[in-house]
Amino acid sequence: MLLQKLLFKLFSILTLLLSLSLSIVNANDDSHGIRYPDNWQTWETIAVSYRTDNHTLRVILGNDIAIQASRTGQTNPWPDGTILGKVVWKTQALENWQAATVPKAFVHAEFMFKDSKKYAPTYHWGWARWVGLEQHPFNKGMQICTSCHSPVKENDWVFTQPAPFPKLK
Ligand code: HEC
Repeated sequence: MLLQKLLFKLFSILTLLLSLSLSIVNANDDSHGIRYPDNWQTWETIAVSYRTDNHTLRVILGNDIAIQASRTGQTNPWPDGTILGKVVWKTQALENWQAATVPKAFVHAEFMFKDSKKYAPTYHWGWARWVGLEQHPFNKGMQICTSCHSPVKENDWVFTQPAPFPKLK
């Protein structure tokens, strides 16, 4: 009986340790203290872009709040709760139609989280990035993001103009 009790105690301590270490690993997955956005891979498209200087293709995605705002023109400012995502790929020519440029290697996914209270010091957005297919968190500072986005501060710090979409029928 005593042995059984001891084993049980040992087991619960081990479980506790395991869950503690797992939560530390998760915390390390954060980018700038921001948690990885769940299921962004299923979000809808706001726009696409192609950068001629570094030959990368991008899709700009949004969560439900962002999509609703982008389809109805409520984008300056974007509402609290908006998450904008940008996913970047290197490019290649389509094998059977060379004039078409299509995605190749995955570069990174990055996100802007709108919360005018929580992220007041960084212009009402939380800025985060995860790199490569392994999605390693980027932690070099939100300032890198905000300094490059400053030309569009009058546009709520967002470059993207939502692409025109026909209305739902
Ligand atoms: C070298 C300049 C530069 C840096 C640094 C930069 N961005 Fe951007 N970002 C852009 C440009 C230009 C766009 C417009 C769309 C595109 O790239 O095709 C953009 C677009 C975005 C978008 C889509 C919404 C929008 O503003 O159009 C998100 C989300 C985004 N960036 C997040 C980030 C995050 C997070 C960081 C920092 C980890 C970051 N950016 C750093 C230049 C930059």
